[in-house]
Amino acid sequence: MPATPDVTAASDATYAARVRGLGTTVFAEMSALAQRTGAVNLGQGFPDTDGPPEVVEAAVRALRSGRHNQYAPGPGVPALRESIATHQHVRYGLGVDPDGGEVVVTTGATEAVAAALLGLVDPGDEVVVLEPYYDSYVAGIQMAGGVRRPVTLRAPDFRLDTDALRAAVSPRTRLVLLNSPHNPTGTVLTRDELSAVAELAIEHDLLVVTDEVYEHLTYGAEHVPIATWPGMAERTVTISSAGKTFSFTGWKVGWATGPAHLVGAVAAAKQYLTFTSGAPLQPAVATALGLPDQVLVDLRVDLQRRRDLLCDGLSALGLEVFVPAGTYFATTDISPLGYPDGTAFCLDLPTRAGVVAIPHQVFYDDADAGRMLVRWAFCKRDQMLHEALDRLTRAFG
Ligand SMILES: Cc1ncc(COP(=O)(O)O)c(C=O)c1O
Repeated sequence: MPATPDVTAASDATYAARVRGLGTTVFAEMSALAQRTGAVNLGQGFPDTDGPPEVVEAAVRALRSGRHNQYAPGPGVPALRESIATHQHVRYGLGVDPDGGEVVVTTGATEAVAAALLGLVDPGDEVVVLEPYYDSYVAGIQMAGGVRRPVTLRAPDFRLDTDALRAAVSPRTRLVLLNSPHNPTGTVLTRDELSAVAELAIEHDLLVVTDEVYEHLTYGAEHVPIATWPGMAERTVTISSAGKTFSFTGWKVGWATGPAHLVGAVAAAKQYLTFTSGAPLQPAVATALGLPDQVLVDLRVDLQRRRDLLCDGLSALGLEVFVPAGTYFATTDISPLGYPDGTAFCLDLPTRAGVVAIPHQVFYDDADAGRMLVRWAFCKRDQMLHEALDRLTRAFG
């Protein structure tokens, strides 16, 4: 389990010390634990079924064609950049020029986030970030030498406290790092919440980096990119990825879009991280982005059904369940089960019940805010969800 780093220490530490201090991600640790113990893994957010077969076929064709097995162009293969630009335009009315430096393909959204932070944050700059945070944000801010200023989303609603957001901004703030739909809470920021962020960003001349990897995985809630707000496109880097949308998390094909001066900073950092990203998967992701809407609708409807299956089962165990409006994850309060906190519960869970889940505590600086909360992934086959719920019922029912 990584130790919670000191929020303020980042700017003083050497780069090497900062990187050494990061530890292993809890997701990797918990997945290894699931493998060692034969537990059902509801920890890490990856589906246990493949995405659309025509996308796999497109990757196979690309591999066999002999035209995509060497380095891709730095910003990504033209067909994928074009598909990403079309996606942003058709879905959201956002104009980005695929050949004008406004789109860069990355090795997953993880690299896009890291490259955006490395490219846009100077040592000592402050980054306002929603807490609980996806763990790579903490690492990315630290590696860039930035200082994170958390704004905590609190149970039971996990809504954005716009006063707390305003209070987190200082003269040293460089950017706001957003994530909506939000991992781990499943919150989808509303138009009012996004307006508050936009207003603040414009007032203080801040950049926004927004991680929208779950943009297509919403259940009855509307996802609106903050880049669509007046005055925001020119100050926003929007990040997404094919992994979550199309159930190919292992492919690690992501992207960043926005104005050329910001995407250029992302691309500049990216070229010294990976140089270019996996070439044969890029035309396949272009194919995926061109699939009829119904494919995404079907994936979303099926995920919502599995969300309900898991949430109903967890609720039947007597747990308070926070039903998510987006993402792969549901959150519960595990107070009735008698553990001191979510970490103790999750460490005991594989041996006691044969299930793996993730304690919210690892996503917070404010350990109390997430103390009794646990995250469960529902992007798994029905059979696995039933098996997990049966095991939990035997252990705690
Ligand atoms: C909020 C968020 N951002 C980024 C990622 C990573 O995306 P990728 O696999 O495309 O790097 C994840 C994966 O869990 C995530 O939850």
